[in-house]
Amino acid sequence: ALVLTLALAGGYLAGSIPFGLILTRYAGLGDVRAIGSGNIGATNVLRTGRKGLAAATLLGDALKGTAAVLVAGRLGGEDAALAAGLGAFLGHLFPVWLGFKGGKGVATFIGVLLALSPLATLVFAAIWIGLAFAMRYSSLSALSASAATPPVLWALGQPRAAVLFLVLGLLLWWKHAPNIRRLLAGTEGRIGQKG
Ligand code: G3P
Repeated sequence: ALVLTLALAGGYLAGSIPFGLILTRYAGLGDVRAIGSGNIGATNVLRTGRKGLAAATLLGDALKGTAAVLVAGRLGGEDAALAAGLGAFLGHLFPVWLGFKGGKGVATFIGVLLALSPLATLVFAAIWIGLAFAMRYSSLSALSASAATPPVLWALGQPRAAVLFLVLGLLLWWKHAPNIRRLLAGTEGRIGQKG
């Protein structure tokens, strides 16, 4: 239990680093939470018009999850890896530094998934990219790809990871409630559309 607690806490600390907020502030763009959807993630960083910063945000928010899982797995085994993945995701969504008001979890979901199943990550990416090209909604792409992930992991023979991603997916959907409302109302912003 100590190993799992440490993995969860370590994952949380890594996950709570808000790359979007840090990178945009460092670039002199002010607070990214004041524009667009108000989110700290790559999609909203893209609304500043800075593609490189958006890509760096996606990478940072994803790789903090990947790193947490890989390090915990190396030190503590499979259970620790899963606990660190959960911790990293919770850290991104609920960072103590930001009054527990964090991001929506898409990049970190991908990063944790990458460490546990590169194949399931490819499926996620294919769904995300396909839908993004067709519909140009970042949120819709993420909602769809995240919903597909638990059954994909199950089919790939990773039932424990499937359960973890069911939990992460539910949290991701819950965090996207405003996006879901806008999608249903037809008012959701398209990818790259300035906010
Ligand atoms: O990563 C979050 C994305 O799915 C939606 O972001 O800024 O449009 O709420 P945003």
